[in-house]
Amino acid sequence: MRPLRRYHITTFGCQMNQADSEGMAGALEAMGLDRTDDPDQADLILYNTCSIRDHAEQKVYSYLGRQAQRKHREPHLTLVVAGCVAQQEGERLLRRVPELDLVMGPQHAHRLPDLLEQVFSGSQVVATEPVQILEDITKPRRRSAVVAWVNVIYGCNESCTYCVVPQVRGREQSRTPEAIRSEVISLAAAGYREVTLLGQNIDAYGRDLPGITPTGRHQYTFTDLLYFLHDVPGLERIRFATSHPRYFTRRLVQACAELPKVCEHFHIPFQSGDNDILKAMARGYTHQRYRQIIAMIREYMPDAAISGDAIVGFPGETEAQFQHTLELVTDLGFDQLNTAAYSPRPGTPAAVMDDQVEEAIKQDRLQRLNQLVSQTAAARSRRYLGRHEQVLVEEQNPKYPEQVLGRTRGNRLTFFPGVIGQLQGKLVTVRIDQANAFSLSGSLVAAVA
Ligand code: SAH
Ligand code: SF4
Ligand code: F3S
Repeated sequence: MRPLRRYHITTFGCQMNQADSEGMAGALEAMGLDRTDDPDQADLILYNTCSIRDHAEQKVYSYLGRQAQRKHREPHLTLVVAGCVAQQEGERLLRRVPELDLVMGPQHAHRLPDLLEQVFSGSQVVATEPVQILEDITKPRRRSAVVAWVNVIYGCNESCTYCVVPQVRGREQSRTPEAIRSEVISLAAAGYREVTLLGQNIDAYGRDLPGITPTGRHQYTFTDLLYFLHDVPGLERIRFATSHPRYFTRRLVQACAELPKVCEHFHIPFQSGDNDILKAMARGYTHQRYRQIIAMIREYMPDAAISGDAIVGFPGETEAQFQHTLELVTDLGFDQLNTAAYSPRPGTPAAVMDDQVEEAIKQDRLQRLNQLVSQTAAARSRRYLGRHEQVLVEEQNPKYPEQVLGRTRGNRLTFFPGVIGQLQGKLVTVRIDQANAFSLSGSLVAAVA
């Protein structure tokens, strides 16, 4: 039997990947292991990986190489690779790093204890076959005591030509409304005040569920889910990500405007401001449609915060097409934008298109876009100056312990002087005195709840 005292998890990916890590950490703690932040102190190391871009993937190999060396000196060490690189590479990972004990795709995150049992009985295990994701009974170990992620739909049925997610996360699987509601009820009972509902394409929620209303005809949607969760006692705020422009509806916007707990923040990636590039990406909308969506949101909620994702240097992108992306950003004024240079991914149609853009051009466009984004974000931040904003206090500022931090309803990180012991989990009013591009600071006006 291997000694198993401490585990270490490094998470490389998106919010869903982080939520999976919290679930797996909970399962390891239920097995009696303690957490350590230092991988060299751990008997079990789990890398929860991301393959969205080549850079994320390469980082895993360099971390893994070091621990594989260590295993030669300390053979009791258990090495696990989970997540999207595990799914993408499967058996190939074992050949590349024979020291590995377990390679497990994201659909298997809930099965960690079973898979480890097989490892401890002496096998090297690869778990990447598609499975139905079952409700998890172990309690996740969550990073925060105030805000929590809740998966509502796994997988993605889209086929954006640049993206590995459908390959590595599988087909869409919605959790039932009842399972989600009971998770949210127990979170609120445990003191959580805010949940972020997660899905790669959250607007797809429900379309794989049987028609479950009394008439049996109505297809359950994400909007229905918001109404269903809204009255959970103790819960103060609901957020959600990610919205896909193709499926975005007026009904959803109306629900957000109508339901006081749903925060006025929309994360809607547009990827490119050029219609031909959008078509080559197979995104299923035009830049005009995207602009209409933002206008519709602002019609109902003039102050709503808008964020998104964009890719520069998709195959064939010309300077003029890139300018269309800059125009969209200038016209719409994003509160925040995640930007990336296009990275060719194995098994995706865009990776084999002939007109790949040179790396130097991609980097140049990325820099120019980022510069524009910090200007528009700073301009959006300035609208908060002098205002009284509702902030949910999450934790102490790790840099300045005399400050606490939280978020506005629009998702702006906000710092102000305060004592965490008195304020954690409280909704407070903060007067905004200083506005940076991506954060605010101010002073406490009143504790709300
Ligand atoms: N489901 C979401 C996003 C999932 S991936 C959506 O449809 O928008 C998160 C972001 O990574 C994407 O929005 C995209 O901007 C970026 N991304 C995905 N594949 C990429 C690639 N091959 N190269 C660069 N960026 C990529
Ligand atoms: Fe990837 Fe497109 Fe699915 Fe988003 S919607 S995860 S970009 S395939
Ligand atoms: Fe990365 Fe997988 Fe998320 S590829 S972005 S961790 S779904």
